[in-house]
Amino acid sequence: MAVRRTKLAHELIQNWKNDKSEIGLTLNVEAMELDLLSLDSVVRFAEAWNARMVPLNVLINNAGIFAIGEPQRFSKDGYEEHMQVNHLAPALLSLLLLPSLLRGSPSRIINVNSIMHFVGFVDTHDMNMTSGRSKYTSLEGYSSSKLAQVKFTSILHKRMPAEAGVSVVCVSPGIVHTNVARDLPKVIVAAYHLIPYFIFSALEGSRSALFAATDPQVPEYCSLLKAEEWPVCAYISYDCRPINASEEAHNLRSSQDVWEKTLELIGLPSDALDKLIEGEAVQCQYGPKED
Ligand SMILES: NC(=O)c1ccc[n+]([C@@H]2O[C@H](COP(=O)([O-])OP(=O)(O)OC[C@H]3O[C@@H](n4cnc5c(N)ncnc54)[C@H](OP(=O)(O)O)[C@@H]3O)[C@@H](O)[C@H]2O)c1
Repeated sequence: MAVRRTKLAHELIQNWKNDKSEIGLTLNVEAMELDLLSLDSVVRFAEAWNARMVPLNVLINNAGIFAIGEPQRFSKDGYEEHMQVNHLAPALLSLLLLPSLLRGSPSRIINVNSIMHFVGFVDTHDMNMTSGRSKYTSLEGYSSSKLAQVKFTSILHKRMPAEAGVSVVCVSPGIVHTNVARDLPKVIVAAYHLIPYFIFSALEGSRSALFAATDPQVPEYCSLLKAEEWPVCAYISYDCRPINASEEAHNLRSSQDVWEKTLELIGLPSDALDKLIEGEAVQCQYGPKED
């Protein structure tokens, strides 16, 4: 489990272990530090994980933010926070963990996306949404970051050689009662409790990600899309069925632009994927610097 608040995570894990031991089960979970608001932290995490030289079978990029109603904010790396946490940092993490994912092949990268990508728009000349062409809202920040993720994942899916055995998938969890609504007015948060039939619990919301991570048909489905040169990566809906991503996500040319811009922003060379697949080292502009 990669988390930004390790102390809290260790307490949580201890509680889980205590609960499970009462029913005779052992739980093998570890928490490692990862702050997606810092690309240095992403590199440190990936280096620490890769140094273990163990196979990684599934990477689930679940963490995300939707700072509803909040003003525009930027990370210390200089990127709009939704774009960094929801797209740039998971993209860097996925690429840097490829050595471990290849060791664990057949393996999977699951990106927890959102149906809100349908209303997103990505301008690769203005990934920070500061041009002022439209007034920034957190909705624009969130939906654009989710669309950027679908586009980036689509190119990753296309460029990943079939022999590498790494499937990449986006999923939508549905509308889920989590802390994502913590910034909403209290009255709306209270209303969440009144409409349980329309809103999933956190457990129910995890279904599509777990399905994409474990179902044996998912890699076959990804291979089929690849063989047919479908322009978008696999997208699994909240009900664990494949759905079509937004029309804009089908624009291969702009997905290619998002791919290139993303590599530039996360400090990787344009041939990073090819090199990582060949087992070569790549230099990232972020992370600990050698003297
Ligand atoms: N809930 C929904 O209705 C819904 C709908 C569509 C898509 N999604 C997507 O589902 C995913 C999970 O969201 P959720 O609903 O479970 O929201 P949540 O309750 O707010 O959980 C978000 C998680 O992301 C972590 N996180 C936030 N910023 C981070 C950072 N800088 N570094 C590391 N971790 C960070 C949080 O860690 P802390 O505990 O430290 O804050 C938290 O564990 C997100 O990608 C979201 O966009 C949710």
